[in-house]
Amino acid sequence: VSGYDLARPVLFRLGGGDAESTHEWTLRRLAGTPGWALAALRRRYGIAAPTRVFGLDFPNPVGLAAGMDKDGAALAAWPALGFGFVEVGTVTWHEQPGNDRPRVFRLRASHAVINRMGFSNAGAAALAHRLGTLRRAGAVGVPVGISLGKSRVTPLDEAVGDYLASLKLLRPYADYLAVNVSSPNTPGLRSLQDREQLDELLAELRAAAGGTPLLVKLAPDLTDAAIAEALQVCLDRGVAGVIATNTTLRRDGLAPADLVAGEQAGGLSGAPLTDRARAVVAFIHRETAGGLPIVGVGGILNPSDAVALVDAGASLVQLYTGLIYRGPGLVRACARALSDGLSENLSRKRVPA
Ligand SMILES: Cc1cc2nc3c(=O)[nH]c(=O)nc-3n(C[C@H](O)[C@H](O)[C@H](O)COP(=O)(O)O)c2cc1C
Repeated sequence: VSGYDLARPVLFRLGGGDAESTHEWTLRRLAGTPGWALAALRRRYGIAAPTRVFGLDFPNPVGLAAGMDKDGAALAAWPALGFGFVEVGTVTWHEQPGNDRPRVFRLRASHAVINRMGFSNAGAAALAHRLGTLRRAGAVGVPVGISLGKSRVTPLDEAVGDYLASLKLLRPYADYLAVNVSSPNTPGLRSLQDREQLDELLAELRAAAGGTPLLVKLAPDLTDAAIAEALQVCLDRGVAGVIATNTTLRRDGLAPADLVAGEQAGGLSGAPLTDRARAVVAFIHRETAGGLPIVGVGGILNPSDAVALVDAGASLVQLYTGLIYRGPGLVRACARALSDGLSENLSRKRVPA
């Protein structure tokens, strides 16, 4: 029994059981932890498994997935929990409240979550300000990716300008930039994964990103043919890597106890996504002959899931839902499993000491 097994029932009861209330409480606690304490935790618990991908040095290949810390509120705390990189956002050009609450639902028997946040965030300018302050204080110490999305008020045919404005403002603070065209919770957003629209978007963003690696995050619900098309556009436009995958609109693999909760609208994450995320990573790896670095994400609930994603072709992994059900011990266990060379693939990719 880990400390988190004792904390979880208490955490899950906060805010009358509203998952987002627990989230907010935890973020406040993490943000309020003093820097010296975080540095001590990081020294004690940080797992070193140095990995170099798209020109960046990662202390270990296990990252925090987008959406957990949209505004970078607790950015300095994540490395202390063992994360080797953090993806903040998704941020939009305009500040926006997102959908009405409740909008995050735990499906406990399935180790899953459904969310329809709808990109609630404080906007690109607020994030730029926050990251500027943290960078000047040297308070982070691991690579930071910034996930970019489209503001809800911006019509789909003006999406390029909306992404571009955020990118130009935030690029100085990003180690990499992620183009989120795969959230199911902004109407029409996923159509930006179609060949023509993606090409137009990436042409502009890639030109403005300069030397900053630009990544594209894909949905797990695309057909193989659609993924192959998107990959071709990514390769043609000089994208540095792909993140696979975002949440799914499918409802396969739910436990009977969760079938009612499963009717909530939104994207499903966690254990029901494990196999599909792995299959998508494997497909991308095959399709690009290993030529496009992959960040594998989706349903990592155990270290073996992280190892499986790397064996399928991922160079880095990220998690979100696993942190809710397993706590920070999972992050360290994943980093340790990958550092122990349990994965053939990673030991071959590892920078020599
Ligand atoms: C509450 C919640 C909010 C999320 N918000 C975002 C987001 O803003 N941008 C994004 O790219 N992905 C977002 N995601 C998707 C995760 O980054 C990840 O791709 C997905 O949850 C699968 O990983 P997991 O099974 O480890 O959670 C969100 C997921 C959850 C559960």
